[in-house]
Amino acid sequence: MYLTRAEEETLNGNAGYTKQKAMEILVALGKIYEADRLIPIASAQIAGVSYRSLGDSGTEWIESLAGDEVEVPTTLNPAGMDLGRWRDMGIPEDFAKRQLHIIKAYSDLGITPTCSCTPYLAGNLPSFGQHVAWSESSAVCYANSVIGARTNREGGPSALAAALIGKTPNYGYHLSENRQPTLQVYVRSKLKRGSDFAALGFWMGRRAKNRVPFVSGVHSARLEDLKQLGAAMASSGGVALYHVEGVTPESRAVQVEPNEKISFGSRELRETYESLTTAKSGWVDLVCFGCPHCSLEEIQRIAELVRGKKVTEGLRLWVFTSAVVRSRAEEKGFVQAIERAGGQVFSDTCMVVAPMRDLGVRRMAVNSAKAAFYGPTVPEVDIVFESLEDSVRMATGDD
Ligand code: F3S
Repeated sequence: MYLTRAEEETLNGNAGYTKQKAMEILVALGKIYEADRLIPIASAQIAGVSYRSLGDSGTEWIESLAGDEVEVPTTLNPAGMDLGRWRDMGIPEDFAKRQLHIIKAYSDLGITPTCSCTPYLAGNLPSFGQHVAWSESSAVCYANSVIGARTNREGGPSALAAALIGKTPNYGYHLSENRQPTLQVYVRSKLKRGSDFAALGFWMGRRAKNRVPFVSGVHSARLEDLKQLGAAMASSGGVALYHVEGVTPESRAVQVEPNEKISFGSRELRETYESLTTAKSGWVDLVCFGCPHCSLEEIQRIAELVRGKKVTEGLRLWVFTSAVVRSRAEEKGFVQAIERAGGQVFSDTCMVVAPMRDLGVRRMAVNSAKAAFYGPTVPEVDIVFESLEDSVRMATGDD
């Protein structure tokens, strides 16, 4: 990989220890993926924030980089708790202390602790065609597919290295030739609810693996639907970019017709719902939304559905979002409406990275295929996969 004189000096340590370590990571990546050079990025998004996933060794590595700052606007993925309301979640004091320590270490590097997997709804919104270095697979899929920005599926360390240098190696999804579709998907079933998009994404991800699907037969989709679609296919497969004909921005620029074609009909939709539900009965102790983090519109919808109702005793209803969106929802009275009904709206964390089993959760209802996929293995809870509307009905006992 070609390096400018300034980049070589950074690699040799002339810009200090932090930048040298960051440059070493980028150069190693560039060599592995045969990048021709480093290209400037507009922003970075760092995953690997929860103490639950990072542990003490990860914390020490971030602390070892202290002494310099990121070169571009950089935001953080969800932490293991709501940074302000962790006591309301029941988070143990020791976990909270360690988590706040991690947030401080990142903040000392000049990173904004948005703690959200929807940075594009929390102030980190790139433009069409801009190069960025994002980790968090759902955000990567959204940035590439819905915004038309360009990013590889970075890991936490490589995204942090790119943020510290302000550049990333030029390979993969930064190159136009790798953004053409390699799998055609015909959708024959009507997608009526957000969770139907999640189910489609989950089914597609399994088949696409890390290819680029081109989806036909979906004529309109809300931001929230695309958020669910991408998050699901990025978790069941390794999809980083998809196109929806007539909906996503690069679908019109497609020049290649994929050889492999698959169809998704009502049978596939029903079977995907069934496969994502692992709980043997419909009983749950938590109904939760916000994987990926809820938009303002989703919080409004939940507030409308619970208005005048009460969450059944012994059951919890939790909504996860970013602090930015939570405060907008508070201004509009949506948070208060959910809390009056007995629910809670938390920011900075989610049902996968928070220590859910330690919080007494055994079975949860979710409208997210990604949360349903990780539920049984990461937080180790049984799952009921349902639409947002049906999940709210479960919480308020209106079956
Ligand atoms: Fe976001 Fe957590 Fe889901 S990071 S995409 S809410 S698993």
